[in-house]
Amino acid sequence: MLLCEVTSAGAVDLSVTIGALRLRNPILAASGTFGYGLEFAHLVDLNCLGGFVTKGLSREPMEGAPPPRLYPTPSGMLNAVGLQNVGVRAFVAEKLPVLRKFDTAVIANVFGYCVEDYAEVIRILEDVEGLAAYELNISCPNVKRGGMQFGSDPIQVSEVVGAARKAASKRQLWVKLSPLVADIGLIARSAEEAGADALTVANTYPAMALDYRTGKSRLGNLTGGLSGPAIKPITLKLVWETRKAVKAPIIGLGGIETVEDVLDYLSVGASAVQVGTASFADPKASQRIADGLPNALFDVKVFTLNEIRDKFLQENG
Ligand SMILES: Cc1cc2nc3c(=O)[nH]c(=O)nc-3n(C[C@H](O)[C@H](O)[C@H](O)COP(=O)(O)O)c2cc1C
Repeated sequence: MLLCEVTSAGAVDLSVTIGALRLRNPILAASGTFGYGLEFAHLVDLNCLGGFVTKGLSREPMEGAPPPRLYPTPSGMLNAVGLQNVGVRAFVAEKLPVLRKFDTAVIANVFGYCVEDYAEVIRILEDVEGLAAYELNISCPNVKRGGMQFGSDPIQVSEVVGAARKAASKRQLWVKLSPLVADIGLIARSAEEAGADALTVANTYPAMALDYRTGKSRLGNLTGGLSGPAIKPITLKLVWETRKAVKAPIIGLGGIETVEDVLDYLSVGASAVQVGTASFADPKASQRIADGLPNALFDVKVFTLNEIRDKFLQENG
């Protein structure tokens, strides 16, 4: 449910609820584009965001994919980072104690090669303070095992989400879906029935770029994931399709660079959004967008965030 009440651009309550979790505003920074939050703390006032999602955390540290890992494309970017991360135990020991000083929702993005890996990462996180929710990445295109392999089959989605749900008794479980599926409604329903509290729609699109002169890929990993403005219209439709298929709240992301992009995602049914690739060009993007939201709502004479969605529903319901 969206609770924002806009009476004047200056005094706006932008808070939103995702199930039982209340966020200051609907703007979060996306996994893999905001480090562990700490890397951005000198540039962005973390206390002004609805929250942020950590880089994907795995049971053991991961070295990731060989360089180059990023390649700019028209209106977007390819990446193949391969889920490099410090591992869940180092995150708990080294990053989380510092993160607890901030008043923002920290969402732990969780990754595994098999169902038991996902459950084990969550079990390790269950005992620590300072996290608002888990986001299960069942949609990474840049690893050979795990990731997307889970996210495109409703039976495997049910298994991995069910196991994560059992492990996650203390916190909300968000499930991040792959955009490359025949019927995202089917996958979303499977995740919801297995216990997802919210759905994050969506991850990057499997893609590639090469140099025909050398015959080499532009990425060390041969293929990668496409993100940025190029994917926004496609993902927007996926959020709309997911909205029609499930009751669970949706966190929308893909190509968000401006406040207007956020309002588009809220219109088709997202309760909150994440800002990803935009933070590469402008590290302050998430805060800039959060700061601009009250005026943008006021400009279109919308007095609650719900009204934005109702407008679209009335026209297209
Ligand atoms: C460099 C990079 C690393 C990423 N790493 C992760 C990750 O570890 N876990 C995850 O769930 N998504 C990851 N993503 C996907 C983003 O969180 C997001 O879903 C995607 O980029 C689409 O949003 P955008 O167009 O705003 O970037 C990564 C994206 C990029 C560009």
